[in-house]
Amino acid sequence: MYQKDLFKDKIVLVTGGRSGIGYAIAEQYIDLGATVIIASRKEEQLAEAAAALKCDYKACNIRNVDEVEALADYIKTNHSRLDILVNNAGGQFPAPAELINPKGWAAVINNNLNGTFYMSQQMAKTFFIPQKHGNIVNIIANVFRGFPGMAHTGAARAGVENLTKTLAQEWAEYNIRVNAVAPGIIESSGLETYPDQIKAFFDEARKANLMKRFGTVKEVANTVMFYSCPLSAYTSGTTLYVDGLDHLAGNGMAMYATMKKMIYG
Ligand SMILES: NC(=O)c1ccc[n+]([C@@H]2O[C@H](COP(=O)([O-])OP(=O)(O)OC[C@H]3O[C@@H](n4cnc5c(N)ncnc54)[C@H](OP(=O)(O)O)[C@@H]3O)[C@@H](O)[C@H]2O)c1
Repeated sequence: MYQKDLFKDKIVLVTGGRSGIGYAIAEQYIDLGATVIIASRKEEQLAEAAAALKCDYKACNIRNVDEVEALADYIKTNHSRLDILVNNAGGQFPAPAELINPKGWAAVINNNLNGTFYMSQQMAKTFFIPQKHGNIVNIIANVFRGFPGMAHTGAARAGVENLTKTLAQEWAEYNIRVNAVAPGIIESSGLETYPDQIKAFFDEARKANLMKRFGTVKEVANTVMFYSCPLSAYTSGTTLYVDGLDHLAGNGMAMYATMKKMIYG
């Protein structure tokens, strides 16, 4: 649906691009003519994905500022420029709030909030601000009415949504746009990481969704393409939900109820 050479001559970095949603985003940029670099922690899987996509890669833990700086140096040396950053890397685990220990809480906040800030700040300082152009798309989650069952990621993603609004305003003078995409439940590799009972909940949630289905990775990728191309040139600081209406009509307590039954009987 997008013009075939829409991202010709654009250099794009997709974190978490080795799997699931990030892979689909990287694939679509490549189809539309971009030069793509994918980055995540597991170098072997990252190299395999990059070989399949025919793109560049660099191992990087977004929680580690030294590795984030090294990633920027790598891109500067090998590509000279960066035009678009997609902060997609992230992860969490389901747990009722009273059982999340400080280590688990810190890990999720570090990954999903701090990692996104480190990446955005570094890429803005190295590329976007001096270039006087840039585009950041943050993948968050449907946290519109809180996130019962995943308080840590709810707080982190709400933080990223607010950060999106702040950075969009502060960096507008440098011609940098910052937007967020909030996926609902998307059929992707990320869903495989959940325990079986939660997977059973997913089957119920699929039927309960007003569109009677989950989203696809391609539908998330389509919104990222929109935000990072001139079609959305006058739009910044916003969040687009790709969730089949779950942020309005979904039963936000359903996963939490399933989990409580698993834990407390
Ligand atoms: N699937 C859904 O229904 C859904 C809904 C809402 C939001 N999301 C969010 O959308 C994003 C993609 O989800 P997905 O379903 O595609 O999940 P996924 O397959 O588990 O992808 C997560 C990716 O992030 C990378 N990653 C995680 N922590 C990292 C770190 N510290 N540094 C660098 N890379 C890191 C992982 O690679 P390594 O293991 O190699 O680091 C992996 O490639 C995630 O942020 C997820 O939370 C997903």
